[in-house]
Parts: sequence; structure tokens; C-alpha cells
Amino acid sequence: MKTVYAFVLTLFMTGIAQAQAPATATDRIRLADQKYEALFAAEHTDGDEYNLVGRLRQSRFFIPELSLVAQTGDKIVGHILFTKLKAGQTTQLALAPLAVLPDYQRQGIGGRLINEGHKIARRLGYAYSVVIGYPAYYPRFGYVDAAKFGLRAPFELPKGVFMACDLQGNGLPVNAEVEYPAEFFPADTING
Ligand SMILES: CC(C)(COP(=O)(O)OP(=O)(O)OC[C@H]1O[C@@H](n2cnc3c(N)ncnc32)[C@H](O)[C@@H]1OP(=O)(O)O)[C@@H](O)C(=O)NCCC(=O)NCCS
Repeated sequence: MKTVYAFVLTLFMTGIAQAQAPATATDRIRLADQKYEALFAAEHTDGDEYNLVGRLRQSRFFIPELSLVAQTGDKIVGHILFTKLKAGQTTQLALAPLAVLPDYQRQGIGGRLINEGHKIARRLGYAYSVVIGYPAYYPRFGYVDAAKFGLRAPFELPKGVFMACDLQGNGLPVNAEVEYPAEFFPADTING
């Protein structure tokens, strides 16, 4: 089954869907949003991922080209978002969230979303993509301890989960603490 899904999997930018999509840009975005809802209403998420995507999409940190979905047939089965992230005087990327529907996991879809995102990010000229994630997963896709590039998390985190991928491969040190936009945090956690 693994290869069947691999064949039909297509990646496209949300809001700039392929041929069969409705005619206007607004329709396409609405369609993508409905599909997000189905994806993030899935029980496996932490309940805030759909809201997180919505908040980030409406923020100045959103980069339309770096919101990607994985589609098999008409069904959206995975999504990844990279948004702008301040680090000192520089703008880097934050990878979050990434999700693949449970029935479609372990077929390389998460990996393809990450790699495709990196390709586009590289073309757009971004230097680093930063993630807070599984230390046993992200290193497969080039993520290493963010401290290697002088990138620091703004809060305490378990060892190994704050990682960065050197997109341009030049290892230039940034030496700064990253600033996650307020949109990353639900309003009730900001207000206590
Ligand atoms: C994490 C996730 C996106 C991976 O998607 P995927 O399409 O299954 O990933 P891939 O097929 O590219 O890679 C699968 C491999 O990753 C491994 N993997 C998945 N989750 C992992 C985890 N939490 N820690 C370590 N490895 C993990 C699998 O064991 C598998 O390994 P194998 O190739 O040796 O069998 C998916 O499991 C998911 O949506 N999980 C729920 C949401 C989530 O946790 N998002 C990430 C937040 S940091």
C-alpha cells in the first residue's frame, strides 16, 4: 500500500491548488480551510492545531508558499506550515505544525512535506528552519541541536527538542534567542 499512496500523493500550495480546484482564489482558500478543519478535527491532534493554523495564517508571519498539504485523490492527508520567526536582527523560519492523518503515517508523507518545504524555503533565501519536536524524527531531515548555530529557545525545553536545519548549508552563526509570535500561544495561556 505504501507505494500506492506514494504515486498519488501530490503536494500543492494552499490557496494555489491544482487544475480540478474551484475557479477563484477565494474559493480555493475556502476549500483548503474546510479540508484543514477535517484534518485538524482528527482525534490525534492536541485540539489546538486547527486554531494554531488559523491564527498563523492571519498573521504577518504567514508565508503562503510555505503552507503545504499532502493530498491523495481528493483527500488532504497531511499538512505542514513554516512561518517567519525573529531571531535577533534576522528572520528565520519556524516549522509548526506538521501532521499526517493516522491511517497515512509511516509512508514517507511527513518526510516529503518537510523536504518539499525546505526546497521552497531555500529558494526563498531563508537560512534556518527551527523546530521544537521529536529528537528521534527531525534529524532524518537535517535538523541538529539549534545551539550549533547559536540559536536559543525563549523558554526552558527538554534537552534535544530545540533543533534547526541549516537550509543554505553555510552554517553562519546567528547567536540570538528566537521570538515565537504570540499567535503560537492560545489566548487563554497568554492571559494566564
Ligand atoms: C510525526 C508525523 C508527522 C510523522 O509523519 P509520517 O508521515 O508518519 O512520517 P514519515 O513517514 O516521513 O516517517 C515515518 C518514520 O518516523 C518515525 N516517527 C514518527 N513519529 C515519531 C516520533 N514521535 N518519534 C520518533 N520517530 C517517529 C516513524 O517511526 C517512522 O520510522 P520508520 O521509517 O523507521 O518506520 C506523524 O506521525 C504525525 O502526524 N503525528 C501526530 C502529530 C505530530 O506529532 N506532529 C509532530 C509534532 S513535532
